[in-house]
Amino acid sequence: MTEASDVSAPTVAVVVVAAGSGTRLQHAHPKAFVPVGDRTVLEHCLRGVFATAEPAQVVVVVPASRSGEAAEVCARAAGAAAPYLSVVVGGATRQQSVAAGLARLADGIETVLVHDAARAFTPAAQFELVVDAVRATGGGVVPGLPVTDTIKRTDGGRVAGTVDRSSLLAVQTPQGFPRADLEAAYSAAIEEHTDDAALFAAAGHAVTPITGDPLAFKITTPWDLRRAEGLAEELRPSLARTGVGIDVHAADPSRPLWLGGLHWPGEAGLAGHSDGDAVSHAVADALLSAAGLGDLGSRFGVDDPRFAEAHGDVFVAGAVDLLRGAGFAVGNAAVQVIARRPRIAGRRAEIEEHLTALVGAPVSVSATTTDGLGFTGRGEGVAVICTALVTRAG
Ligand code: CTP
Ligand code: MG
Repeated sequence: MTEASDVSAPTVAVVVVAAGSGTRLQHAHPKAFVPVGDRTVLEHCLRGVFATAEPAQVVVVVPASRSGEAAEVCARAAGAAAPYLSVVVGGATRQQSVAAGLARLADGIETVLVHDAARAFTPAAQFELVVDAVRATGGGVVPGLPVTDTIKRTDGGRVAGTVDRSSLLAVQTPQGFPRADLEAAYSAAIEEHTDDAALFAAAGHAVTPITGDPLAFKITTPWDLRRAEGLAEELRPSLARTGVGIDVHAADPSRPLWLGGLHWPGEAGLAGHSDGDAVSHAVADALLSAAGLGDLGSRFGVDDPRFAEAHGDVFVAGAVDLLRGAGFAVGNAAVQVIARRPRIAGRRAEIEEHLTALVGAPVSVSATTTDGLGFTGRGEGVAVICTALVTRAG
């Protein structure tokens, strides 16, 4: 009988080489341990590796000086995939580091991908394409992109000719191979090669190119690191939160009506310490609620004389300022007015435009009556519900 664990045991392994020092990067840390935004080069890389649909054994090859720290970092990145993770110490050259990784392949592995940790933003889909191509061709697979610069050959400080770039490919990793052939090629290798495809081809095996991905660029120089930092910022997941705000004010025919930041001539006003604008108050409350910043009363003190008779815009703008200060951006807000009067429909676009400008994000407004039921149905007051969505970089 087959054991349950055998059924799900991976047949693909990814060897991630991260043992280099990063001489050209000129950073205090070894390249894979250089921070880029909110995580290190290696952690960015492992995010793509562990996001592949098919489970894979992952062997991470690290410098001896960082092996303890790397084991923790890798285990955290692996999460539920931790049983298929190995962390090993690399060698003096990239080729030796790959060899150290290959020595740890599990029994059932049939396809091996070798990947540079320095290609930290390689998407998971690229790993999957390489695996598919190895299975389809039965040989080596190398992703690459056409060369866009004109390439010159130089000789003793002078240009000796132009290379026909139409047949050139700038190759990347992950490169993929059938396990047995790759192991045999590594055992037989005498010379140092700059990539695994060259070593594999030197052993007489076929290598097929597939289309690479610009995101798989290698972080090599300080300029590459700046590009990586920009990308890390873009890729940072944003945390979305929703909030709700409700406000109710009683009708007061002796006051002018202010609703949604607009004056409504000829309509009965609303009672309240401020101008009674239940729409603006509900919007401000929903924004504060979404950001977890309390509510209108606790933030703007209803008894505070500064807010006596205050226009609704003051509270909305104040809430938006508080959110920005706390690092939130508003996604949108949706308002529903529950009232017999005023009739919102005729001025809906005007309220939406006013609130959208104030909030700096779309605010939609709808309205309903309650079929004559309750205090809103009897025209004794106005109730407003608002929901809001806010985001913050996670
Ligand atoms: N690598 C490795 N072991 C080595 C040398 C390199 O595991 N002895 C890894 C690097 O960590 C990197 C990948 O191979 O992820 C590609 O190498 P490269 O970009 O050249 O990195 P470094 O050798 O670290 O950088 P440099 O050549 O600038 O020193
Ligand atoms: Mg190197």
